[in-house]
Amino acid sequence: MKQRIFSGIQPSGNLHLGNYLGAIQNWVKLQDEFESIFCVVDLHAITVPQDPAELRRKTIEIAKIYLASGIDPKKSSIFVQSHVAEHSELAWILNTIAKMPELEKMTQFKDKSQKEGKESASVGLFDYPVLMAADILLYNTEVVPVGEDQLQHIEITRTLANRFNKKFGDTFIIPEHFVKKEGMRIMGLDDASKKMSKSAKSEYNYIALTDSEEIIRKKIKKAVTDSGSEIVYRDDPPRVDDASPRVEAGKPALKNLINIYSLLSNKSTGDIEKMYVGRGYGDFKNDLADVVVNFLQPLQAKIEAISDDEVLQILKDGADKVRPIAQQKLTEVKKRVGFVI
Ligand code: TYM
Repeated sequence: MKQRIFSGIQPSGNLHLGNYLGAIQNWVKLQDEFESIFCVVDLHAITVPQDPAELRRKTIEIAKIYLASGIDPKKSSIFVQSHVAEHSELAWILNTIAKMPELEKMTQFKDKSQKEGKESASVGLFDYPVLMAADILLYNTEVVPVGEDQLQHIEITRTLANRFNKKFGDTFIIPEHFVKKEGMRIMGLDDASKKMSKSAKSEYNYIALTDSEEIIRKKIKKAVTDSGSEIVYRDDPPRVDDASPRVEAGKPALKNLINIYSLLSNKSTGDIEKMYVGRGYGDFKNDLADVVVNFLQPLQAKIEAISDDEVLQILKDGADKVRPIAQQKLTEVKKRVGFVI
């Protein structure tokens, strides 16, 4: 029996290299080893305001990106979260065991609610992690492959599952996370102290998977780098107590660019360092732009080649395939809490 993985992406903003390298790239590899379920989480997307036509367009685009990246619907189930009503229903039940203070301390809620102003943050945004717990727990998920920013949400999923099991008897599997160190936190090109983000103010923060060659080259040219001119992969923290010239401050911006280079080219970070001994940022950035363009252009061609009808059928089949699993789990939950079935 294969273990099951579940993961998802919100159809909001522009999907970027962080989403690809932190999540999708790993999913493609994991689908051979695990029974895999990948979701387009539209219920999560509406926790902040969305334009309805754009939401529809993005939902289909994300599913196309999954397929174009190599998620194979014969191996994995791909579906839209709102097509399986059990997600909302389980979230409601889990709401009754989740505690306000544990949701108040979620970093993503704090960040997003600060951006919009706390007074206008929706109850849905506050409740976001509970819906995510429902997504995961409905399918007896054993492993959740995500980027680092989602670890706190997986932790609260584990807490809620344990709490429910203790209160009502063994019902949920306690899921583990899966993150891959190099891709788990791709940083912004304009500021290496913040993660690459769909909702970043400046488009120079990210490379969207749908960016044109011209834009990609422009963004990489403008990407911030660290002081010094050597291409070295270094992330040791500054050592203020050590005056040795060999020990310099970490190079987070360059480390980020080398990580992107490495993950898209299958070259190790050490090999990349060696390739640029005695060469400067100009050469390195030109080559990195080539690597990104050579990776994204074929992906974009594949996205274009998939029709809306084709993707809608795959999403329908996916929902039909996973719904019975969700229904069975929800029935079990309802019995446990004492609902008349
Ligand atoms: P979302 O849509 O914000 O991001 C999708 C995936 O991309 C990863 N990611 C990154 N990885 C590396 N570097 C970055 N800069 C970066 N930015 C984003 C995220 O960690 C994520 O894996 N809450 C989730 C969606 C979700 C979900 C789930 C995930 C809903 N239900 C159940 C797993 C299981 C989210 O907001 O992803």
